Amino acid sequence: MRDQAADLRSLVAQKEPSSRIIAVTSGKGGVGKTNLAVNLALALCQMDYRVVLIDVDLGLANVDIVLGITPKYNLGHVINGEKTLRDIIVEGPLGLKIISGGSGITELANLNGYRLEAFVASFEQLNQEFDFVILDTGAGVHRSVISFVLAATDVIVVTTPEPTAITDAYGLLKIIHQRAPHSRVRLVVNMAKSPAEAEMVAARLNSVLREFVQWEVDYTGYILTESQVARAIAEQQPFLLSFPSSMASRSVKRIAGVLAGESAPSQPLGIRGFFARVSGLLHF
Ligand SMILES: Nc1ncnc2c1ncn2[C@@H]1O[C@H](COP(=O)(O)OP(=O)(O)OP(=O)(O)O)[C@@H](O)[C@H]1O
Ligand SMILES: [Mg+2]
Repeated sequence: MRDQAADLRSLVAQKEPSSRIIAVTSGKGGVGKTNLAVNLALALCQMDYRVVLIDVDLGLANVDIVLGITPKYNLGHVINGEKTLRDIIVEGPLGLKIISGGSGITELANLNGYRLEAFVASFEQLNQEFDFVILDTGAGVHRSVISFVLAATDVIVVTTPEPTAITDAYGLLKIIHQRAPHSRVRLVVNMAKSPAEAEMVAARLNSVLREFVQWEVDYTGYILTESQVARAIAEQQPFLLSFPSSMASRSVKRIAGVLAGESAPSQPLGIRGFFARVSGLLHF
């Protein structure tokens, strides 16, 4: 007689990996990506999701600073074969897992086929373990940033109301739309003076996008300029933890709620697929 439980188990084992990969990015630097990525990741942890935050910013190890941690190893050590992926994962607050990208991101572009396959395969093990992979990217439209953006299942573009930030956000959005017309892109306006100002920024961006590329992004939320955010950064503590009732914390929880509640995106899911796409794009 067939064992129904065993059938069920094998069915579950065959289930597609379900990690959602969210890239937090921006056209202009310094608009609040890292803060949003870290606090969003923590807000999802508070909702009992299993979350890994990967710092894929080539420039500075920002995630480390915001969380006040100093990981010894990064993806570069995995690529070199010195460490396994598991060795480099560090644990942050609320059970959040953190992977430092470090030099690994540039090295990814220089890997040959066999080593690349081995590297990508090493991510297989994470597929079943995480509901959300949050990527804190660098700013701008460089290939190393765009590759992560295009490979992600969801993209959050951050801007401030500053005209230069809006212009750069538009430039980035245009490229995302050209290269990946079906990707789901969300806009978060940070450092706004009021919800009305944030809404105006989103409306302005969308009206330009509609006019020139016949496209729109989803306006997902805002974070106001708030002294507690700056204080939390100075203290190297995420504001969600040190100022849980601040406006910023409430805003981030709302954004996390929207992300968690939305239906599955069109991109294939899974971390392995993601890194395969990133490496393909980097070699493009
Ligand atoms: N809502 C806010 N209220 C007050 N200050 C803020 C807010 N958001 C960000 N900041 C300030 O902006 C600075 C930059 O934020 P953050 O490092 O998150 O930006 P970033 O986009 O990741 O920058 P980079 O492009 O350099 O990676 C912070 O150090 C903080 O001082
Ligand atoms: Mg940053």
